[in-house]
Amino acid sequence: MASIDTLTLPLDQTSAADLAASGLEYARVDADGEGFRPFQRAVARGFLGAESTDDEAENARTTLRTRRLTAVYDRQGVEPEVPVGTIDSWASELTTSPGRTTPLWSISAVTVAATHRRRGIARAMIGGELRTAAAAGFAIAGLTVTEATIYGRWGFSPAAWASDVEVDTGRARWTGPTAPGRLDFVPREAVVDRLRAVHERVRVQRPGSVPGWDGRWRGVAGLAPGDKSGEKVRAVAYRTAEGDETGILVYVIDERDDFSAHDLEVRAIFAVDGEASAALWRFALEHDLVGRVKAWLQPSTPPVQWMVSDRRAVTATLTDHHWLRILDVPGALGSRRYAAGLDVILRVADPLGFAEGTWSLRIGADGEAQVSPSIDRPVDIDLTVGALSSLLLGGVRSAELALSGLVRGEARTLASLDRAFVSEATPLLDIWY
Ligand SMILES: CC(C)(COP(=O)(O)OP(=O)(O)OC[C@H]1O[C@@H](n2cnc3c(N)ncnc32)[C@H](O)[C@@H]1OP(=O)(O)O)[C@@H](O)C(=O)NCCC(=O)NCCS
Repeated sequence: MASIDTLTLPLDQTSAADLAASGLEYARVDADGEGFRPFQRAVARGFLGAESTDDEAENARTTLRTRRLTAVYDRQGVEPEVPVGTIDSWASELTTSPGRTTPLWSISAVTVAATHRRRGIARAMIGGELRTAAAAGFAIAGLTVTEATIYGRWGFSPAAWASDVEVDTGRARWTGPTAPGRLDFVPREAVVDRLRAVHERVRVQRPGSVPGWDGRWRGVAGLAPGDKSGEKVRAVAYRTAEGDETGILVYVIDERDDFSAHDLEVRAIFAVDGEASAALWRFALEHDLVGRVKAWLQPSTPPVQWMVSDRRAVTATLTDHHWLRILDVPGALGSRRYAAGLDVILRVADPLGFAEGTWSLRIGADGEAQVSPSIDRPVDIDLTVGALSSLLLGGVRSAELALSGLVRGEARTLASLDRAFVSEATPLLDIWY
């Protein structure tokens, strides 16, 4: 699929008509137009945040200029220019196998005014996004969620998980590898470029990942306006003995009452390989005057567990993080590489219609899939579009989903599907979007 300017795609007429029938207006918002500040106010309200300052709004505008902003207005309201619904989306890229990516319709900023909840505004906005994405040729849509109860009804389902990690440094004596390279502090102004460079290398190797963007990296670096901890942000980069910069750690020391046991809060730890990862984790764990290291969005089984003398010094709390929604079955299943051959017929149930159908999935010895509609062979596996979206990256096994009835098929067929779908690297999304 050629790269596509999502800003020029037309507004979904089904949603426009549905909302108009309730007296509401569905419209695009120009990030450089008058509608932008009210859009921002509505998003901040929806996520229970403070009103943004002029500096914060300008900072957000630089990111949102490249995004498709859509809003719902109630023109009878006291503030008719402030949307009662907001959503934004953009063309991103999902890593489906190490070294392989596919276009992803990313969705964010979904809010509905507390005064207008449960009137179908979210349904119209999300349906509008899915129809627009599918019509533009996107095989997959994705989002990260604040609540796990909202998006399943539209066919989204978790496909990559992440752990929040805490390490008690008093218990965690380092037993991991000794990295032969060097660590250096990085000035805060240089952090954005360094984060971008390392993350670009990391994310294309990790199924479930997407690219970051400069606004995200400015936030991590403490350079976003309004960041109260911004001045406390420190960063160290790891360079191999050959001089290649393969890792970066960005962190803040959060002072506790006990001056010898502060918290080191990791804002980002990106490492191209195990060597850089070991160097950066060791730096964090052995930092003087630190009693606890906290990090978010880490792999589901964090590598640091295997690098300390007492693995129970590391606690990891797993959460679903990257939710995907397959819109086009051949496009989505054809976008990754597989671990083993397979020849099955899948029947996919999709109440919204995008992925509905019976599909032949043939995977050759080279790990490449061929997917086409099937009419004449008996079905081997019955599943929902959500279940297929969860299976896509190999982060969960079909045999596990079968226990809850989300997938149905003979045990040996599911076992062969799982052998093919198992991922070369556990799926992970290491940022919020
Ligand atoms: C979540 C939110 C967007 C829902 O908007 P809404 O316009 O009230 O939703 P709709 O009226 O379109 O509801 C569609 C369906 O989703 C259900 N639903 C809506 N919010 C839900 C929630 N938080 N949990 C479970 N179900 C929910 C509705 O009951 C309805 O179900 P039905 O189809 O069976 O009738 C809105 O409550 C909101 O803005 N919340 C705060 C911000 C937020 O959490 N955004 C999500 C970011 S990931």
